[in-house]
Amino acid sequence: MAAASPDASQLPDSPGWFEAARFGLFVHFGLYSLAARHEWVRSREAMSQQEYDRYLHRFDPDLFDARQLARTARESGMRYAVLTTKHHDGFCLFDSALTDYTSVRATGRDLVREFVDAMRAEGLRVGLYYSLLDWHHPDFTVDEHHPLRGTPAEREPRDMARYRSYMEGQVRELLTGYGPIDLLFFDFSYPAKGPEAWGAGQLMSMVRELQPGILVNDRMGVPGDYVTPEQYQPDRPLERDGVPVRWEACHTLNGSWGYDRDNHDYKDPALLVRMLVQSVACGGNLILNVGPTGRGALDPRARATLRAIGEWTELHGRSVHGAGPAGFETPANALCTRRGRHLYLHLPAWPLKHLHLPGLAGRVRYAQLLHDGSEIGFQETDGARHEHNNLAPPGQPAGTLTLNLPIARPDVLLPVIELELAEGE
Ligand code: GLC
Repeated sequence: MAAASPDASQLPDSPGWFEAARFGLFVHFGLYSLAARHEWVRSREAMSQQEYDRYLHRFDPDLFDARQLARTARESGMRYAVLTTKHHDGFCLFDSALTDYTSVRATGRDLVREFVDAMRAEGLRVGLYYSLLDWHHPDFTVDEHHPLRGTPAEREPRDMARYRSYMEGQVRELLTGYGPIDLLFFDFSYPAKGPEAWGAGQLMSMVRELQPGILVNDRMGVPGDYVTPEQYQPDRPLERDGVPVRWEACHTLNGSWGYDRDNHDYKDPALLVRMLVQSVACGGNLILNVGPTGRGALDPRARATLRAIGEWTELHGRSVHGAGPAGFETPANALCTRRGRHLYLHLPAWPLKHLHLPGLAGRVRYAQLLHDGSEIGFQETDGARHEHNNLAPPGQPAGTLTLNLPIARPDVLLPVIELELAEGE
């Protein structure tokens, strides 16, 4: 078998759980969920704080049910979940002593606490998203993204040093008040503000000191523990300076992170499953976002999508959880993963009767469809093994293993064939 392709799980400082998990849930929830037209609504529509406050006054997440969310995530095959503790609008879903602009002041509920407890109870790893931008804080300078750009606020004296200590204080609250946190997702750097504006060095040291085992992303503009391609699907392992890096592709259901009522640009569940498998095949993770409604519930489309994904992962989870790149030449039109001595061939296009696998003759002991555990016969062109018949398929090079597939494509989102490799492979 060819040398394994670069795999981030071989990184020396790998905590292990992240690669094994492979699939996570991202949750974007906040005041913007009431506007229901994208989480950047305040910036896009250049709203004053006072105008935006109409959502604060009506914020009532009566249907935000963290336990239900945790169950849905686990049943969808997700093994970790990340919640927006504060998004760019500055509204906090946790109990902060440093501001009144929180869900606790607005409703008496610490949604971060509810989330962390529920995810833990369901056996999921816990991640927190924290926005580096803050359009509510009086010391956050007005830049191109700020809702008050082009207003006199641009010329107000604002002190980023004070904002930095506010952030530091809040991150400390998050990392000391909620038990062990597995992952921290900072968001984001851009030309006007980067590591210097955020005090990235100091913030990172504090995070490491408070939670030594935590994984931190790279969006403070300094290297973290993993990189975060956004709404982009890598089709090969990612590297930095020739060295494999741990990565996680983050994706939306419909292009918006926050609830976006009139946006119907939904990815279909079969595509999402292919994206998940492609991530694993390339050594990465996928975190899929939901934007609960203004009342905090998942809308029917999100629920149906997660349910469909869950039906697939229930039968095929072992081709993704704990799996990684296959490390051999992938047949055209197949996505391949490997877990120990098993290879998983995912077939987005169902071929007629045969699938040829060059180089695998003599290396496979058993083959089956994964969804129902039904045996798949095979033949090998080199004559070494003849499990079911010894007719070498014409035109195939020596060393080819040919699987004999049923005519009917299995009725699952993405059919998977599990190959058990011979000893020593
Ligand atoms: C972007 C957006 C933000 C979203 C994030 C998720 O940085 O600004 O709204 O939360 O991506 O990765």
